[in-house]
Amino acid sequence: MTRLGILISGRGSNFEAIADSIAAGRLDAEIAVVIGNRPEAPGLEAARRRGLTAVSLPSKGLDRQIYDAQLLPELKRHAVDLVCLAGFMRLLSGLFIREFPNRILNIHPSLLPAFPGLDAQHQALEHGVKITGCTVHFVDEALDSGPIVIQAAVPVREDDTVESLSARILAEEHRIYTEAIRLVTTRAYAFEGRRVVFR
Ligand code: GAR
Repeated sequence: MTRLGILISGRGSNFEAIADSIAAGRLDAEIAVVIGNRPEAPGLEAARRRGLTAVSLPSKGLDRQIYDAQLLPELKRHAVDLVCLAGFMRLLSGLFIREFPNRILNIHPSLLPAFPGLDAQHQALEHGVKITGCTVHFVDEALDSGPIVIQAAVPVREDDTVESLSARILAEEHRIYTEAIRLVTTRAYAFEGRRVVFR
């Protein structure tokens, strides 16, 4: 069974959605470890409440390479097959990415390549797009880049605020992250340029 290593920085609702999918039998995987780079991340406490292994590995003030050199052995120790970034607000080094080739997923609250980076929902509202959404993609060294596994569209309403729009996008995030993990763990796929083609 695929062993997931989930990396979080905050609330951890995407992590909880994945845990719920596993508990409900919608996803055939197990969560080997949840790692948070902020000790106060509520998601770490949620992981402990669920009886999962939760590790606080603070990143404050640490260079990317130095932090990743701490992260790697922690994931190896728990025999992680697939790394899932779930609101993990740090870029990973090339060194880290090469250790998990095509084995790192990220979720982002926009239809990439639109609105990468912070506050994607705010960026979408400010830009005036009528449709936004969320994306699960493989991770490469650039920010919110990498081949796309799955996306979901969310219409923007006239009266949307960042909060109301974020809430509707989040519901889709929770749905497609499970779907993406299921796809990459159960289906054969190939890369054609940037395209991920499932067989
Ligand atoms: C989610 O909306 C996720 O897409 C976003 O952070 C939030 C984390 O929520 N990630 C990014 O913006 C990455 N660039 P959660 O902690 O409740 O899962």
